[in-house]
This record gives sequence, structure tokens and C-alpha cells, in this order.
Amino acid sequence: MRLGLAARIGDDLRRELRVRRHSRLPPGSLAPSWSNTRRIISDPLGLLLEHERRFGPVFTIRLLHEPIVWAIGAEANHQILVGEFDAFQWREGRFADLWPLLGDGLLNTDGPYHRDFRMLLLPAFQRDHIASVAETMVDQAVAAAESLRDGQVIELYRWVRELALRIALRALLGIDADARREHELASAFEASLAIHGEPVPLQMLAGPGTPRARAIAAQRTLDRAVRDEIDRRRRSGDPGGGVLGLLLTATDGDGRPLGTRCVRDHAITLLFAGHDTTTTTFTFLTHELGRNPRARDAVEHELDSVLGTRRAAADELDGRALPVLERSLKETLRRYPAAWVGPRRTTRDVTLAGVRVPAQIGVHYSSWATHHLPQLYPDPFRFEPDRFLPEREAALPRGAYVPFGGGSRMCLGKRFGEYELRALACTLYRRVRLEPLSTDEPRIATTPTLGPRGGLRFLVRAR
Ligand code: HEM
Repeated sequence: MRLGLAARIGDDLRRELRVRRHSRLPPGSLAPSWSNTRRIISDPLGLLLEHERRFGPVFTIRLLHEPIVWAIGAEANHQILVGEFDAFQWREGRFADLWPLLGDGLLNTDGPYHRDFRMLLLPAFQRDHIASVAETMVDQAVAAAESLRDGQVIELYRWVRELALRIALRALLGIDADARREHELASAFEASLAIHGEPVPLQMLAGPGTPRARAIAAQRTLDRAVRDEIDRRRRSGDPGGGVLGLLLTATDGDGRPLGTRCVRDHAITLLFAGHDTTTTTFTFLTHELGRNPRARDAVEHELDSVLGTRRAAADELDGRALPVLERSLKETLRRYPAAWVGPRRTTRDVTLAGVRVPAQIGVHYSSWATHHLPQLYPDPFRFEPDRFLPEREAALPRGAYVPFGGGSRMCLGKRFGEYELRALACTLYRRVRLEPLSTDEPRIATTPTLGPRGGLRFLVRAR
């Protein structure tokens, strides 16, 4: 059920009253606080780490009107993701303002509906299939790299975003669009998401000319473009490849083809889940290598000695062939886990890291905060790929490193994302060195994935 803003707030307040009649919330900042609400947007990591130090691994922060329980640390993560998995629901915990865009895809659903669709989509994410689309990833990366010129300055976040969208349309959805249709799809998708980059008060405004009105119009265009693609494939009798092909050949419990709305929701959800995550990870990886010359030299040396001047083959993108690059990638995902927060709602009382949490409460785990606990990662703000040397990685407790979540709802696109990141790194870093114009700690935006606020600019140097 989708509620309007006022109805949702009323619903949340009534629910809190019911909960607090018979239970206590974990300690923390329970009073309404505009400063905490603002800080969860401007400096979430600082706010969470401060609360963890003051109140321990499980604490409450009231955000706007709603108390949210945060669970930070290896033990609580493992309980939420694996041990006490059945005490949580995703749908009621997800960011409600993304519902109109995502519909009923994997990120928003629970129970048998979710499980059946995850099973249906799984073949598109298995090793053999990903290896078969890795060539497309490298092709697109090579074409993009060839457009770079020595001495050029690029805003890398936007540059990779366009490239990642082209890769996702082809290698994920199986859409082999001409340039015009590709541009139409890509710009409608970006415009539907642009509202999340606006300040929160502006996001809430309704009426002509507002970011919300623009988002709704863009979403209509996107829906039309995806529906046209689905109709085109249905009319031609050829379901085509990629995830769209899978969905178009599937049937429901009664043997009927899936409805257009259902196919659209799953396709858009995958595009959303897979696009910005890889984009920001690659941007942050390049930034960290740029300001850590020793780590960068080690990666370049490995690429030169393993690949020389040839392009990477699909089986060299599986994570084993280039261990130095792999450690830098893991460290990037520690410092900047794109999906930094996992929102849920409890379906029953549950004990997390020794703290009782009542049923019907919003609970968020945060990989980002956990990855910056000094008890797990000494000097946590330092970029140090050697933390992921095999023996050091093996010594980390369960739940300490969760950039892809874990358990039965672990990121479905993990392998796709990892292959894509390696394809981009192998292709670009072999041809060019990207030197950051600023080596400062990047300013972070959460819109809703972690990204560099205002982008990151690099000078292209031919290698
Ligand atoms: C570096 C890249 C990526 C990162 C860091 C990442 C991270 C995550 C995380 C942390 C979750 C679980 C969130 C939670 O527990 O609340 C998740 C779920 C998911 N991701 Fe990713 N992701 C990445 C790439 C991708 C890609 C490329 C795709 C698709 C092609 C994708 C599709 C999904 C889907 C469908 C889910 C929901 C799975 C389910 O509930 O069954 N992700 N991702």
C-alpha cells in the first residue's frame, strides 16, 4: 500500500505509540532534532560513529518524526543479514519515495513473490552468463577510453555514469539500441533520479516546475521507452537477450506471460540497483589511486605485467588474475560502500548485539559505519589495500565487511558489478593515468547511493 506523505507520518506516529505502550526503544537521540535530521544527510558517517561511541552498537536516532534504530558492527550485521533474517521485512523499510520509480522489483518486495523472481533472474547473474557479457563490458570501455585525449580534463563521475548506463542497457537488459533510442532511455532514467540530488525541502514540493513534477514527467517517458522495447520484442516474436529476454519468456503460476508492468518493474529496479553503484565505486577507486601513488603504481605494474598491451579476456576479470587490483577494489568498497545503508522493519521483537529491539520499528544497518569502526579497521579513514591480503581478510569477523550485504538477499548483481569494475579498471588504467585535480578527502553525497558531491575532476594523461 502506498501512502501520501501526511498519511504516512500519521501512520508512523500511531505505530510508534503502539510500540512504546509495551516496549522501550534502544537508547540514543529520541527527542525530535532538526540537527540530527539534517546531519543524516550532510554527514551520516560522523553522526553514526558518534552515536556508536556514546551508546554502543545498537541505538535510536529520531529522524524527522520517526525513531530509527541503527545497528552497527559485525555482530549486529550478521544477525540482520543471516542469523535473525526472518525478523525483518524490506518493503516497509525501503525508501518510500523510490517506490513509484521502482514498482514491485526485487528491492521492494518480500516473501514468496520476491523469492520466485530472484530465482527467475538468477541465471542472468551466474558465472557463465556474466563471463559471456564481459566482452560487451570491455568493448564499451575500450570505445569510451579511445575517446579520451591526453591533457583533457574530465568529470569522472558523469563520464563513467554514461558509460555504465550503456553497459547496463546492453549487457544487463540486452537492449541493443541505436544511439537515439539509447540516449532517450538514458536521459529519461537519469531525469527520473535527478530529484534525489535536490535539497530535501525542494524534493517535497509539489506542483508545476518543481523537481517532483520533472521527475514524474521523466518517469512517464522512461515507462513509455521501456514499454515500447517490450512491445517491439513481443511483436517480433523474439524475446531477445539479457534480463528482459528472461522476463519475456517467463510465465506466472497459471502459465501466462508476465504482465508488462511486472517486466518493467524488474528491469528498472535492476537498472537502478546496478548503475550508480558501479559508477561511484569506480570513481572513488580512481580518486584513491590518484592520491595514493604507491597503490596506483602497484596496480599499474600488475596490469602491465599481466596484460601488457592486450585487452583483458573474460576469464581474467574473475578476480583471481589481478590480486593487487582486487585488493584496491575491496578497500574502495570498504571506504565507500555505494549502498551504505540497509533499511528494514522488524516483524517481531529481536535482540541485536545484546540489545532488545521491538517489533514494527525501522532498523537500519550501515556497512559504511561498520567499515569505519577502528576496532575492526585500525586507522579506518586511511586507504590501505593490504588490509585485504588473504590472511588479514580471513581474520575479519563475520559481518565486518558487507559492501554487498549478505545472506539470502545478498546483492544479486555482485558478480556483474565486480566484472564491470574490473573491465573498466583494466581498460582505462592500462591506457591512461587519471590524475585527480584535487587530492582532498572527497565530499560525499547520499543520493541515495554514496557519491562524490559535485563530482570529481581528473586530468587525462596518456600512458
Ligand atoms: C559495486 C557495485 C554494487 C554494490 C556495492 C551493491 C551493493 C548492494 C547491497 C549492499 C545490497 C543489499 C542491500 C541490503 O542488504 O539492504 C544490494 C542488493 C541488490 N543489488 Fe547490488 N550492488 C552493486 C551492484 C549491483 C548490480 C550491478 C546489480 C544489478 C545488475 C545489483 C542488483 C542488486 C539487487 C537486485 C539487489 C536486491 C537483491 C535482493 O533483495 O534479492 N547490484 N546491492
